[in-house]
Amino acid sequence: MNDFSKLLAKVNERSKASVIRELLKFTNKPGLISFAGGMPDPSAFPVEDITHFMSITVKNNPHIALQYGQTEGEPSFVKELIKLVKEEENIDLTHEQIIVTSASQQALDLVSKTFIDAGDIILVGKPTYLGALQAFQSYGANMIGVESDANGMLAESLEIELEKIQKAGKICKFIYIVPDFQNPTGTTIPVERRIKMLELAKKYGTLILEDSPYRKIRFKGEHQTTFYALDKGESNVITMFTFSKTFVPGFRLGYIVGHKDLIRRFCILKQSMDLCSSPVCQAVTMEYLRAGKLQPHVKKIVDIYSKKLDAMIKALENYMPKGVSWTHPEGGLFLWVMVPEYINCTEMLPSALEQNVAYVIGSAFYHDESVQNCMRLNFSYATFEQIDEGIKRLAAAVKAHIK
Ligand SMILES: Cc1ncc(COP(=O)(O)O)c(C=O)c1O
Repeated sequence: MNDFSKLLAKVNERSKASVIRELLKFTNKPGLISFAGGMPDPSAFPVEDITHFMSITVKNNPHIALQYGQTEGEPSFVKELIKLVKEEENIDLTHEQIIVTSASQQALDLVSKTFIDAGDIILVGKPTYLGALQAFQSYGANMIGVESDANGMLAESLEIELEKIQKAGKICKFIYIVPDFQNPTGTTIPVERRIKMLELAKKYGTLILEDSPYRKIRFKGEHQTTFYALDKGESNVITMFTFSKTFVPGFRLGYIVGHKDLIRRFCILKQSMDLCSSPVCQAVTMEYLRAGKLQPHVKKIVDIYSKKLDAMIKALENYMPKGVSWTHPEGGLFLWVMVPEYINCTEMLPSALEQNVAYVIGSAFYHDESVQNCMRLNFSYATFEQIDEGIKRLAAAVKAHIK
C-alpha cells in the first residue's frame, strides 16, 4: 500500500475538520433535536417557484443553463445582482466590481488565497464564524483576536491590536467582520462603531472583509449601513453576499463586491477552483429575482424566524437554571448562550447528545479556543415543538453540570 502520508502538502497539517460539519452527521440520529447547523427552515423553501423556473430555464435556455459559464458569473445574472444591490443597499456597481461565487464559503477561500501567505496577520472577532477561521487557517494565517461586546467587535480593541501590529513593524492583511446578526452571537455593529472601525482600517492601511449573510433577516430595530457603502467606493472594503440564508443554500450561490482590480484577481484564482459557479442555479435565481419573488420570500422567512426566536427565548426563560444567560438578537439565525465559567461546553456536549439535543460548542468560534463556557444555538431549523422540547432537554444537561 502506498504510504501517501509522506506525500501530503503542509495544508493538511494546518487543517482540521469543522466541528459543525462533523456534528451535522449526528443530526440524522432518530429523535435528535439539532440546534447545531446554521440551516434555513426547509419547510419554507420556495419549492414550487424553483420547480417552475428550473423547468422553463432548462427548456428555453439549455445552451446557457446547461453549458459552462463565465467565471465572473453569467452577465444577465450579474445585471440582476447589480440592480438588487442598488435597491437594497443603495450601492452603485459596474460589472467589473462583482464576481459570482459558489456561495460565501468559496468567497472566503478566494479572499484568503488572494491575501494570505503563511504567517500573515489577519484580525478576527472573538468569537467569529468558524468556517472563516477554517479557511484562514488553511492558508496559514496568523490570526489575532479582537474583543467583542453586546454590539459586536470593539473599535477600541481593534485599535489596540492594529497599533501593536504597526509597532512590531508588521501589517494586518485584513480585518474579518460579520457585522449583522453575527454568526455565532447574533450581535450587530451599530453604524457609529462601523465608521470608527473603517477609519482605523484606513489609518493602519488594511482592508475590511465584510461577510453579511444574515443582513436581510431583521426582525426589529434599524437597518445599519454596510461598511462597503460607508466607504463610498474608496476600496477599503470587500463585501460578500450569499443566497444561502435568504433563498436556498443548495444552489451554493453568492457574490463578492469590491474594487475592480481585486475582483479580477479573484476571477483568475476562481478559474482554477471550479471554472464557474453553477450556470443552471444562476439562471434559475435570475428568473426568481426578475419575477420579484425574493423580497416577499424574505418577508415570509423573517416572520417565521422571528417567531422561532421568540419561542426559543421563552423556552430558555422557562427551563434554564439561574446563572445561564443568552443574547437577544434583532435578526439572523443564532443566539449565544453563556453558562457559568466552571462549565466546559465541550465536556458537556456528550450529556446533551445523550439527552438527544445538539448545539455547537462555543470554543469552536474562537481562533484560540480560549473560551469554553458558551454555546451557539440555531433557531431557524427546528420546529416550534422541537424548540420547546430541545431547550427542555438542554436545560436538563446544563442542570446536571451546575453546582
Ligand atoms: C458568517 C458566514 N459566512 C459564510 C457562511 C457560508 O455560507 P454559504 O457558503 O452557504 O454562503 C456562513 C454560513 O453559515 C456564515 O455564517
